[in-house]
Amino acid sequence: MTRLSGAKYHLPMKRVFSGVQPSGNLTLGNYLGALRQFVALQHEHECFFCVVDLHAITVPQDPSLLRAKTEEVAALLLAAGLDPTRMTLFVQSHVPAHAELCWILNSVTTFGELGRMTQFKDKAKGRKSVSAGLFNYPILMAADILLYRTHLVPVGADQKQHLELTREVAQRFNSRYGETFVVPEPLIPKVGARIMALDDPTSKMSKSSEVPASYIALLDPPDTVRAKVARAVTDSGREVRYAPQEKPGVSNLLVIYALCSDKSIQEAERDFEGAGYADLKRAVAESVIETLRPLQARYKDLTVSGEVHEVLAAGRRRAAEVAGPVLEEVKDKVGLLRA
Ligand code: AMP
Ligand code: TRP
Repeated sequence: MTRLSGAKYHLPMKRVFSGVQPSGNLTLGNYLGALRQFVALQHEHECFFCVVDLHAITVPQDPSLLRAKTEEVAALLLAAGLDPTRMTLFVQSHVPAHAELCWILNSVTTFGELGRMTQFKDKAKGRKSVSAGLFNYPILMAADILLYRTHLVPVGADQKQHLELTREVAQRFNSRYGETFVVPEPLIPKVGARIMALDDPTSKMSKSSEVPASYIALLDPPDTVRAKVARAVTDSGREVRYAPQEKPGVSNLLVIYALCSDKSIQEAERDFEGAGYADLKRAVAESVIETLRPLQARYKDLTVSGEVHEVLAAGRRRAAEVAGPVLEEVKDKVGLLRA
């Protein structure tokens, strides 16, 4: 498939797939690391975006909260600019092919490979009980991606290792059973792939954090954004300069400012020549507020219109249409007797 771009040359249209977990509050890190890319990609490629509720239940969730968050995340993705006429948005558990392919890929993935996943090690740390689902999590993610014969997977830097495993599983399946899956490429932004926590710039901003001051939620009102940014940890010295090792707090704020005001890091640094940390924080807060303002307004409209349900129903049909035949082909190749 090709698509005319700039009326001068043809860009090959690719398949894009990505997922977001409906756990916690979507953060500015999710937006800058992932959602912004989703919105841009829908204009160039055939995109599938999925609210991955089956991934979320690998750690304990309150059932009614999970249901509410699944809807909220879908609405936030639309509010961020995903257009139902340009992409497919759906809920993972609505398309059973994901869980079925996951089971089949369980037998193509090794225990050793899963044990090396750093996200598993991080998430398992400090838990009294670790579910088998948490261990197998990357296989379900591989199933999500491979079912759509995805070329590109826009994600933040924390998902790089999972993508490498997905590629490995795809190649192994293809060599064992014959060409079936596309081997996908990760698409990780150069700037913003790892937005750090405001209270600890050495760890990533995470929506599952128990400390709300560590993240900016996409639905935080302006005064909350101002208060959180004002309390953000900075570094010794006074100079506003991008130096992630030496000045992780200031560098994180500069990255946020640059992305939210559509500037390069160098331009952002220039804006604060001779200025202090307080000036930086004020500017960061205002740039974030302006970035979130249209998203929050659209979110409000969406929650009253009830449009999300229709979008998810159409998304489920379209996703099943694409995933179904791929799953059938896989079942056939591994030798399952057809019904
Ligand atoms: P999750 O919140 O784990 O469902 O992540 C959804 C998407 O947001 C994934 O592509 C993540 O890589 C990305 N993401 C999550 N946290 C951050 C962060 N702090 N900085 C950049 N990207 C992030
Ligand atoms: N594991 C991803 C995360 O936590 C979410 C995810 C699930 C995903 N399935 C996916 C991302 C498929 C990209 C493609 O961020």
